[in-house]
Amino acid sequence: MAVPLPEQSMHGQWSSRWTFILAATGAAVGLGNIWKFPYLTGENGGSAFVLVYIVCVAALGIPLMMSEILLGRRGRSTPINSMCVLSAETKTSQWWQIIGWSGTVAGMLILSYYSVIGGWTLAYIFKSGMGTFSGASGEIAASTFSEFVGSPGTLFLWHTIFMVITMSIVAGGVQGGLEKAVQYLMPTLFFLLLVMVGYSMTTGFFGKGLAFLFTPDFSKLSGASMLTAMGQAFFSLSLGMGTIMIYGSYVPKGTSIASTSVAIALADTGVALLAGMAIFPIVFANGMEPGSGPGLIFQTLPVAFGNMTGGIAFGSLFFILLLVAAWTSSISLIEPLVTWLIETYGMSRITASLCSGLATWLLGLGTVFSFNIWKEVTLFDLNFFELLDFLTSNIMLPLGGILIAVFAGWLMKVELTKSELNIQNPTAYLIWQTLVRYIAPVAVFIVLLKSVGIL
Ligand code: PHE
Repeated sequence: MAVPLPEQSMHGQWSSRWTFILAATGAAVGLGNIWKFPYLTGENGGSAFVLVYIVCVAALGIPLMMSEILLGRRGRSTPINSMCVLSAETKTSQWWQIIGWSGTVAGMLILSYYSVIGGWTLAYIFKSGMGTFSGASGEIAASTFSEFVGSPGTLFLWHTIFMVITMSIVAGGVQGGLEKAVQYLMPTLFFLLLVMVGYSMTTGFFGKGLAFLFTPDFSKLSGASMLTAMGQAFFSLSLGMGTIMIYGSYVPKGTSIASTSVAIALADTGVALLAGMAIFPIVFANGMEPGSGPGLIFQTLPVAFGNMTGGIAFGSLFFILLLVAAWTSSISLIEPLVTWLIETYGMSRITASLCSGLATWLLGLGTVFSFNIWKEVTLFDLNFFELLDFLTSNIMLPLGGILIAVFAGWLMKVELTKSELNIQNPTAYLIWQTLVRYIAPVAVFIVLLKSVGIL
């Protein structure tokens, strides 16, 4: 007789659907929305990229998020162990644990560079607070930034500080506290973004910014930029690596997975679009280059802070909130590895955090140096940071997502997914099923093949 699956994760349960939405949104909204989305949009020519991104969120992101929550809630453990339980339940190969493995590794790889950018955010709280940008022009902001990233020692220091703080939170097991704070801080960040959009409206270039973001120009769309847009959808929603699966494992039975997924995706995409609407008018008003890369927000936002009333306080507050958003995401990136070490080797939480943190920090040095002394050290034309980002966002997360879709769509029994998802409307269930069975796997493969020039 099959052993009944646990009703609850050994690590606990969310107190309500609302706490789950908050925590998952906290993990999803981070540097990906405010730092990465705008610079990728700029590098990939704007509107057509944005359109592909939105289509990917709706057609792949939401159904895959539902699948990932479903797997987590059914498996009730870390991604690796959940997949072990579920493959036994569905009588399929234990190889499906690969979803958990690849996700755990991807989380650590992503955190290694995420921490470096988190360090920039930390440094910019102080730069803004000390009035470095008062009255600054685009040129001054740009030169301040290139001087900053040009110094390996400075980046090393901020990366280290960011990592130490993140891992202390993880080691102390006080994520709950942070998540409670997020309840107030995230809406504040949202509000600050709205104020920034308001500032952008005064630059005289708001229309140009909007046109750049929303008037599709398909001539700018290449296979590579489609892949980047798809990878960004996975990255921003934290999909394909088990984070959402872990969060799903704490979801009480009876919570509507579909409406919850839609809410998270809407909040996440809303923040990214607002960031774009705040940044591009500033780019055009100051004659800057939209495609200037990872430094984009650090070169544009300071100009706005430097030229608005109360900009010093406003600027530091903005970077503080961005830092908090980065922390909640960082914690979710490393949590799979830490819990797995605890469950598998019986390590204490502190030892597990120390080991994971140290390895991630060390790997992060590669990213620190790729902005200065290793800038020219490339493989396939990508430096260390770019290679790591490409490998995780564009390859590992989409492939992980496909495996999750195939598992939920093909291997789990229809009655089971039907009852777990609890979708009353048969057409809605059919749409979900078609998306995870056919559309998601085929779309990801087409985009992957297109990006390497096979299609
Ligand atoms: N979604 C986060 C962001 O946009 C990054 C992240 C990716 C977090 C994958 C967890 C898992 O910043």
